[in-house]
Amino acid sequence: PKRVRVHHLREAKERGERITMLTAYDAPTAQIFDEAGTEVLLVGDSMGNALYGHATTLPVTVEDVLRHARAVVSATRRALVVADLPFGSYEASPAQAHAAGVRMLKEAGAHAVKLEGGRHVAEHVRLLTSTGIPVMGHLGFTPQSENTLGGKRVQGRGQDAAERLTEDALALQEAGAFAIVLEMVPAPLAAQVTEVLAVPTIGIGAGPDCDGQVLVWMDMAGLGVWSPRFAKKYADVGAVLSAAARAYNDEVRSGAFPTAEHSFTD
Ligand code: KIV
Ligand code: NA
Repeated sequence: PKRVRVHHLREAKERGERITMLTAYDAPTAQIFDEAGTEVLLVGDSMGNALYGHATTLPVTVEDVLRHARAVVSATRRALVVADLPFGSYEASPAQAHAAGVRMLKEAGAHAVKLEGGRHVAEHVRLLTSTGIPVMGHLGFTPQSENTLGGKRVQGRGQDAAERLTEDALALQEAGAFAIVLEMVPAPLAAQVTEVLAVPTIGIGAGPDCDGQVLVWMDMAGLGVWSPRFAKKYADVGAVLSAAARAYNDEVRSGAFPTAEHSFTD
């Protein structure tokens, strides 16, 4: 299969075809999502919560994302793999962002990076895209700023906040971003931003009118404890895995496993 490229996402928007994106952090799940036809796989700093059990994304490092991005890239043939730039790796200057972005492409083979924020990172986005590193933006609730935002809250409510978010989206597009994640934004505002932008919007808790959708795969599959309102559960993988572990435990304890078919002869 041909690799999904950033221009394919813009063409999908022009054709009115919705874009699918999921997080992935390891080879086996990345292969499953790739073969299922998911266009974009995000090696998200949500790994801080989803994999490492931290309360926030803030402790995640460039090395963490590199390690998981390598695994995801190695297991995919079609999906566009986007590596998140973690907290503290890009905000201070365009040069800092460029250094982190180069590592994601050079050392992990990622195809693009994602970073959080609006106008204040526009110059970062411009330097990255002009040096061969495609950038996905991220507006609305940006988890790396949860301490200044005052927790996990819907963003862009009210006229002023809506105008600021729209201007941020336009600034990212003008700086070269190929797509923009809108997280926890009122559905009518997300629809309006989607209409104004030429590049696709990818929603998470941003209503039905974005050009694509993204979810943390554990939330989508029913694994893990936190279940946000916007995460529809398409499976109960937690229950399936729990039942398998209980059955295995029972059979080992009773001696029902292993039998001759699981054993070697002389
Ligand atoms: O890290 C992540 O998983 C994300 C998505 C929720 C957009 O940034
Ligand atoms: Na993220």
